[in-house]
Amino acid sequence: MSEIKHFLDIDRLEGDTLRQILEDGKAYKAGNPPGGVAKPLAGKSVALIFEKPSTRTRVSFEVGISQLGGHPVVLEPGGSQLGRGETIADTARVLSRYVDAIMIRTTREEKLQELAEFASIPVINGLTDRTHPCQLMADIMTFEEHLGSIEGKVVAWCGDGNNMAVSWLHAAARFRFELRLACPDNLRPPSDVVNWARGEGATIVVTDQVREAVEQADCVVTDTWVSMGDDVGDSERRMKLLAPYQVDAKVMAMAKSSAIFQHCLPAYRGKEVSAEVMDGPQSVVWDEAENRLHAQKGILNWCLS
Ligand code: CP
Ligand code: NVA
Repeated sequence: MSEIKHFLDIDRLEGDTLRQILEDGKAYKAGNPPGGVAKPLAGKSVALIFEKPSTRTRVSFEVGISQLGGHPVVLEPGGSQLGRGETIADTARVLSRYVDAIMIRTTREEKLQELAEFASIPVINGLTDRTHPCQLMADIMTFEEHLGSIEGKVVAWCGDGNNMAVSWLHAAARFRFELRLACPDNLRPPSDVVNWARGEGATIVVTDQVREAVEQADCVVTDTWVSMGDDVGDSERRMKLLAPYQVDAKVMAMAKSSAIFQHCLPAYRGKEVSAEVMDGPQSVVWDEAENRLHAQKGILNWCLS
């Protein structure tokens, strides 16, 4: 029996596989579908489970699946038995009898793992509290469209060491670029992930100094200061800690003059990014959002081919 091709996290796949998926995504975007097959999902269905809100992930997956000839089926806790306590394992077993792949956006990493363990079809991670790998594929695609190969380049992260920061760490190891993260001491990314990336040979700098991270960087990235899994009661404390890490024009001026600004969105102007940077000439955030569609077509094609 061949192994199921799950897309669970960037650290769980080889660099060559990720590069192929990315190149296939670029090929879809260019209108040259890989292998000349425009609709590799013809006759196939994909379940999309959302245990958290979404705009981009939901629309880009639904549209991408349709464009590849497949049929998306959206499930939310309020409208399915997941909301009444049916287990993830049982949901995995049942969905495996109807559809050809499952994308899930959920809270704890363990739920993603459980789904993959009990499904007999590919599972795609559409965000957990810990990671957001589909977003990273779109982010690397966007970087390379603007600045060429990311290998050996410098990406600076400013702000919360959250799920996006973890996926950037995974990507630094697999796509071989330098990642420098400026985060407040208590909001650093998990040290096991930093150590993993270093162990894989990546150059990783973790600092509380914005300048140390951003100086001469090719790309500056940030994300919301309060993620969907975070305790909203803790927001005020987080805002205070993170205020010195806002990406504004002064911060962008520390990077290379050719540097781009990335944000996975949704963005909060005046918090993690100033309106001037978000809406300014270095911002590539709308390309990033579009590239979710193309990168995920590469992922779907890989999982289901
Ligand atoms: N970037 C991203 O995943 O956006 P959504 O939460 O809107 O899906
Ligand atoms: N860190 C954010 C990303 C949203 C796409 C969150 O988890 O809410």
